[in-house]
Amino acid sequence: DTATAQPPVGQIPPQIRCAQDYEMVARRFMAAPTYEYVAGGSGRDLTVAANLAAFARWSVYPRLLRDVTAGHTRLTLGGAAMAHPLLLAPVAFQSLAHVGGEVESARAAHATDSCLVASTLSSCPLEDIARAAGPQRWFQLYFQPRRDDTRLLLQRAEAAGYGAIVVTLDASIQAASLRALSAGFRMPAGCVAANLRGQAAAEPGPAGESRIFQGVMRDAPTWADLEWLLTRTTLPVWVKGVLHPDDARALQRLGVAGLVVSNHGGRGLDGAPASLDALPAVRAAVGAGFPLLFDGGIRSGLDVFKALALGADAVLVGRLQMYALSVAGALGVAHMIRLLREELEVCMALAGCATIDDIGIAALIESTGNP
Ligand code: FNR
Repeated sequence: DTATAQPPVGQIPPQIRCAQDYEMVARRFMAAPTYEYVAGGSGRDLTVAANLAAFARWSVYPRLLRDVTAGHTRLTLGGAAMAHPLLLAPVAFQSLAHVGGEVESARAAHATDSCLVASTLSSCPLEDIARAAGPQRWFQLYFQPRRDDTRLLLQRAEAAGYGAIVVTLDASIQAASLRALSAGFRMPAGCVAANLRGQAAAEPGPAGESRIFQGVMRDAPTWADLEWLLTRTTLPVWVKGVLHPDDARALQRLGVAGLVVSNHGGRGLDGAPASLDALPAVRAAVGAGFPLLFDGGIRSGLDVFKALALGADAVLVGRLQMYALSVAGALGVAHMIRLLREELEVCMALAGCATIDDIGIAALIESTGNP
């Protein structure tokens, strides 16, 4: 393990000047194969690259002489008041980045009034994460091969006071990352899904023609499973991983609370469109008032602004969270969120937007390669 030890509590490396700097500095705090595992996507990273490139195709108009002294970043999302539009995305196995794992991120969420979305595949038990998080905590659900196991996860999340379920539907196959494979990444032995401990392994089905269709996909959820889920919980259910406007419309009709436009940070279908490119059509499909989150490629407050302008109500932060966690634990994640928020505020102020509601498509102009 070549990773440097974390700095003493209370210290942020002086090289960090903006939220994205955590990406670069994290290389010194994670073993190289671990960094490649986190940074990489599935396959050849086509969608990872697309996520980032999409932001560069938009520029923001500066607007003049507007009074923004009453400005703020508050919003309501699905009826809940939020201080700012930044949520911590569900990111699995955070003990890869820090010994304290998700409990550290949860502390950071609490300290920065951020909503935390805890992954099914967390290294810490969901109950421990709930105790460290603030009042705004949601649980990300992966359907388990057995319904009883899914039901148990739901019950535990409800008992631990999670306020919403975010069911992720775009990762039925854990597609290999060529970058992680080349770097020799292996999940360390101690890194296990704490929430699934004791869960019996799924029984192998009859051998089929295809390892994929009759094998891996046998356990993948279908529309019937989602309908089942909606009857099993009184919590709002969000669906994460939506890119196609027809899926968005069908999910809205089914009665989900909101959608997360996402391609899993490029870790699902390699060749999926950039999240940002898919966002406007999904917004158009569900209409102006429907709750819509976005993730994929957020590295700066400017990126946040562009996602909001293209139709998102708020955004989730994935990799930057892991990078900041590896550099300085809870303090790093809190500092990263604070930097992102301030970068967003600077952008809003210079673009003449005093509130989140003021940010719209009229603030953007398509550009040719200007970042
Ligand atoms: C993820 N993501 C993810 N999503 C999810 O619903 N459940 C999970 O357990 C995980 N695990 C996970 C691990 C790692 C290492 C990464 C990088 C991502 C996807 C995540 O929630 C989010 O969609 C993306 O990370 C957003 O893209 P950015 O912000 O990383 O560019």
